[in-house]
Amino acid sequence: MTTSSPFRTKTVEQSIRDTEDPEHGLKRALSALDLTVFGVGVIIGTGIFVLTGTVARDTAGPAVALSFVVSGIVCALAALCYAEFASTVPVAGSAYTFAYTSIGELPAWIIGWDLILELALGAAVVAVGWSGYVQSLLASADITLPNAINGGTDDDWGFNLPAALLVLLLTLILVYGVKLSSRFTAVIVFIKVAVVLIVIFAGLFFIKGSNYSPFIPPKQNPGGEDDGLKQPLIEWMSGFEPSSFGVMGIFFGAATVFFAYIGFDIVASAAEETKKPQRDLPIGILGSLAICTVLYVAVSIVVTGMQKYTELSISAPLSDAFKAVGHGGWAWVINVGAVAGLTSVTMIMLLGQSRVFFAMSRDGLIPRFFSETHPTYRTPYRSTIALGFVVAFVAGIIPLKELAELVNIGTLFAFVVVSIGVIVLRRTRPDLPRSFRTPWVPYLPIASVLACLWLMINLPVETWWRFLVWMALGFVIYFLYSRKRSRLSIVETDLPGISPVVNEQLPPLPGDRDDKN
Ligand code: ALA
Repeated sequence: MTTSSPFRTKTVEQSIRDTEDPEHGLKRALSALDLTVFGVGVIIGTGIFVLTGTVARDTAGPAVALSFVVSGIVCALAALCYAEFASTVPVAGSAYTFAYTSIGELPAWIIGWDLILELALGAAVVAVGWSGYVQSLLASADITLPNAINGGTDDDWGFNLPAALLVLLLTLILVYGVKLSSRFTAVIVFIKVAVVLIVIFAGLFFIKGSNYSPFIPPKQNPGGEDDGLKQPLIEWMSGFEPSSFGVMGIFFGAATVFFAYIGFDIVASAAEETKKPQRDLPIGILGSLAICTVLYVAVSIVVTGMQKYTELSISAPLSDAFKAVGHGGWAWVINVGAVAGLTSVTMIMLLGQSRVFFAMSRDGLIPRFFSETHPTYRTPYRSTIALGFVVAFVAGIIPLKELAELVNIGTLFAFVVVSIGVIVLRRTRPDLPRSFRTPWVPYLPIASVLACLWLMINLPVETWWRFLVWMALGFVIYFLYSRKRSRLSIVETDLPGISPVVNEQLPPLPGDRDDKN
């Protein structure tokens, strides 16, 4: 493969060596436990606190629990692929780096571009959700923010000042250092998990069997306002009328509640800051995913048992279910926990985003200015600050719902590329030590690709359009800027006449990587 090829790759050794450059490297401070806490910290959020109610009410009924099972299975397949990649290529950047070492620069760029969609937009979505819960708490103290700064309503636009301020505050904390962030996160994760357990165990006493009937509501054709853009791609392709509920409702719901699982992949993006990535990353990724799946299924079974699915609230279904059974005290506790929980999700998404941006900048695909680390805190402060302002702005001006669907499609696409990458890297670099090996390659990665594609086609047509526009923009930027500025093409310019295969121009590392800790 020639150095100008969009499919040129970085070697795994080169990726690892990049992390050892003192000006462009991050501090190794996280353990397996930190990573699991980190994972649970980002995974549990708007998905379970908000989308459970929306999906049960409008799409799947009590069978939303099955939607969580379907989504959980898709994520488990992808996680098994992520874990192999993350433990083989332990450097910043997540799926972006994995793609760079296995499939090539252009796919890596596409993935990095895609992760920006997932993480920056995801952070904005969760910050807006946080703002809603904060305002609900303020309302119980009879404080109402004016429309101009509370995010407004459908008819009366307003800037979402609380969401924007949250993002800016968290940006400051992240610039200060990852260790502080993970301690801060640990406390919040504890509160969040405690609140989820309260919902499950306190809620058990209020379940009424009749609320589960029908468990899978019969298919309905709402008709009316739907213009075809809102219906899932698969339904549109099959020429069916827009519908909800029924068996397909479980899958449509799964494509939406998928947002609830986003985040386990971000654990992989902290690889460069992990003490023993080869061992700790698989534990962190699979462990946090397993914990969350069990909690989600339990919460959705309890909540749809407490209140008829048709009556669930859309903005705060967990606490409102307690209000509905006359326990406002528990509702208050749950609201406070949700505020804390959404804070941690926003923060970790910002962290993951800045690391992907950092990795892309270090490779020259984005200006190198962004990848210098802070002389004292060793954090990628420039990318963190730049993105913090962008996300704060987006959180301030853009409404939540449709953005969440866009985040889902981008993330699923990243999973598709990572799963393909596992197969490719097994063939191109069978020699690399892998502390975690995905079982049944290539069958399991292929199943992961198909499962992710299945969820993707269960997303609305308009989401697909937005996604395609975003990706097309990414292509234009890659071919006009990144391709020429990439460090791989600079290697070519600096070393004329040397083998056109980039991988061979770089001196091999003496033996395996050196874990400096
Ligand atoms: N999984 C995260 C949430 O549900 C993104 O908020």
